[in-house]
Amino acid sequence: MRACRRLPVPHTPVWYMRQAGRSLPEYLRVREGVAMLEACARPDLIVEITMQPVRRYGVDAAIFFSDIMVPLKAIGVDLDIKPGVGPVIADPIRDAAGLNVLRPLTPDDVAYVTEAVGGLVGELGATPLIGFAGAPFTLASYLIEGGPSKNHDHTKAMMYGRPELWARLMDRLADITLAFLKVQIAAGASAVQLFDSWVGAVAPQDYRESVLPFTSRIFRELEGLGVPRIHFGVGTGELLGLMGEAGADVVGVDWRVPLDEAVHRVPPGKALQGNLDPALLFAPWEVVERRARDVLDRGRTAEGHVFNLGHGVLPSTNPDVLARLTDFVHETSAAGR
Ligand code: CP3
Repeated sequence: MRACRRLPVPHTPVWYMRQAGRSLPEYLRVREGVAMLEACARPDLIVEITMQPVRRYGVDAAIFFSDIMVPLKAIGVDLDIKPGVGPVIADPIRDAAGLNVLRPLTPDDVAYVTEAVGGLVGELGATPLIGFAGAPFTLASYLIEGGPSKNHDHTKAMMYGRPELWARLMDRLADITLAFLKVQIAAGASAVQLFDSWVGAVAPQDYRESVLPFTSRIFRELEGLGVPRIHFGVGTGELLGLMGEAGADVVGVDWRVPLDEAVHRVPPGKALQGNLDPALLFAPWEVVERRARDVLDRGRTAEGHVFNLGHGVLPSTNPDVLARLTDFVHETSAAGR
């Protein structure tokens, strides 16, 4: 929390996006026979899975076990998360009538989230819990395409061709995202991350016009709640300045932009998070160590730095490498102070 607020820290804090995912054998064990969205609605499983990487790695934060699609499922959107595929929507939204399924989210829709966050805050003690949600663009892409997409054809067709419909859709998604984040904060989450995973597909001019108004409203409405706000996307090198303008306290950087370069792209007054290439963890340890040290060195040029990967942990990652990396980040950054 101190690094997010750009205050001095005893060592560089570290957590990993998707740290609770499929690379942990203990995760696979508790998930046996339980579908992803079912697991996300069971407080006992949410607490257990969220705690697993904290116990194993000694990371400085827990990330709430859930999915960006959970609030949409909770308001009744007919969707599933297919193993090896991702989110799949039964009736993609392509016109004004499609918006009708997107009613506002109330805390009662996600009572299991409130219960799980409450339980976690008790178990975690001093370790902060990071809540999260999907950002409107990334959610819109899944809803409009009907599933994962490489080119975001239908999404961009609506963004470019039907700007009024696009704005209504993005506004509803911003409301749902905000409500979902507020539930997590009210229940005790210490920070929140807004994942705009696929927004890197958009050019800066279109980001400014068609995305920024909605993400900045989300950050503005969270402002008074006193929790650090983190904003992350993939392939966003050309968008880092605008993503900083959107108003988060911390900007997540993928592995493509060195952190000391990201410092010049993001407006002053922000901490940075990132950014070791997740695929680097498949290289020999000497290489991992050298590159992790490089990330720490470059991160020192930022006003605050939270160590992370440049995107989520890949499923075949060896958990022992993540454990060793966590220790390395703690020891090396403490010694450098
Ligand atoms: O970080 C964590 O460990 C917390 C949990 C978390 C999950 N999804 C669990 C999950 C978080 C933070 C997410 C966010 C999420 N979900 C994002 C944004 C982050 C990113 O990676 O960019 C996105 C785009 C999604 C949508 C989604 N859900 C995808 C693309 C997939 C992977 C599909 C696959 O199997 O390849 C999912 C499923 C999912 N979400 C899994 C987990 C642990 C795997 C499902 C399983 O184990 O059955």
